[in-house]
Amino acid sequence: MALLEVNQLTKIYEGKVARTALDHLQFSVEEGEFVGIMGPSGSGKTTLLNVVATIDEPTAGSVSLRGHDPHALNKEEMALFRRRELGFVFQQFNLLDTLTVEENIALPLLLDGIPVQEAEQRLQQVMQKLSLSANEGQFPYELSGGQMQRTAIARAIIHHPALLLADEPTGNLDSKSAGDVMSLISALNAEERTTVLMATHDAVAASYCSRVIFVKDGKFYNEIYKGDSRQSFFQSIIDMLSLLGGDIRDLSFVRP
Ligand SMILES: Nc1ncnc2c1ncn2[C@@H]1O[C@H](COP(=O)(O)OP(=O)(O)OP(=O)(O)O)[C@@H](O)[C@H]1O
Ligand SMILES: [Mg+2]
Repeated sequence: MALLEVNQLTKIYEGKVARTALDHLQFSVEEGEFVGIMGPSGSGKTTLLNVVATIDEPTAGSVSLRGHDPHALNKEEMALFRRRELGFVFQQFNLLDTLTVEENIALPLLLDGIPVQEAEQRLQQVMQKLSLSANEGQFPYELSGGQMQRTAIARAIIHHPALLLADEPTGNLDSKSAGDVMSLISALNAEERTTVLMATHDAVAASYCSRVIFVKDGKFYNEIYKGDSRQSFFQSIIDMLSLLGGDIRDLSFVRP
């Protein structure tokens, strides 16, 4: 059974003008995969992640995680599902300004009632893994963008989620920090077998994935798998993006 199944997923935002953000989107993700989602601005990438995350409701179709539909849960169960099974990383980091690095990272464990001693142990492990040990007492405003995003990733994975969802995680980073963040996510995927679903405009970031799914107008357009080399995968991604059309910022001409 696939870890994640997206079945004919449709999302229409009603309003003065109804917008179809997702249109019978269909794909699945196996346990341990690292899947990128690419497509022009407005093609439904964020909507997809939000529906998978139960932040948003589908209009039609369904999502299934390990065979269960998280949208069928009641409110409390849904909150637990998000807290236990999912990790989120956003473009804007979304750290809490008044908490230190270690408090931000440990927050999901404390909310979940994990004993302090166990939380402390996991905190030290994850901070070491993400090279944040020297920053533990600092506040977000005292960090670089890369350090902020590593803190956000630490917070997203400290509870060993079944699925890590990332929406443009490198969108606010310079290319060096973006490379560090991508190496890190790909190491987490390889070493801990954390399944990752990541939306990105950045072809270099996407070249770290094991597969990239392209969406257009909320529909599945195509997918490509990484072969032996990240360099040639990068080139295939660029070629697919130019076929796909869309805005020029999709075309990153920086070599990986
Ligand atoms: N809350 C909302 N209310 C109404 N329309 C929305 C809402 N969120 C998204 N949309 C519309 O749904 C479509 C898909 O938006 P979405 O944010 O998923 O695109 P995206 O692929 O993430 O774009 P980008 O690359 O710019 O982040 C767009 O037409 C957008 O205007
Ligand atoms: Mg988006």
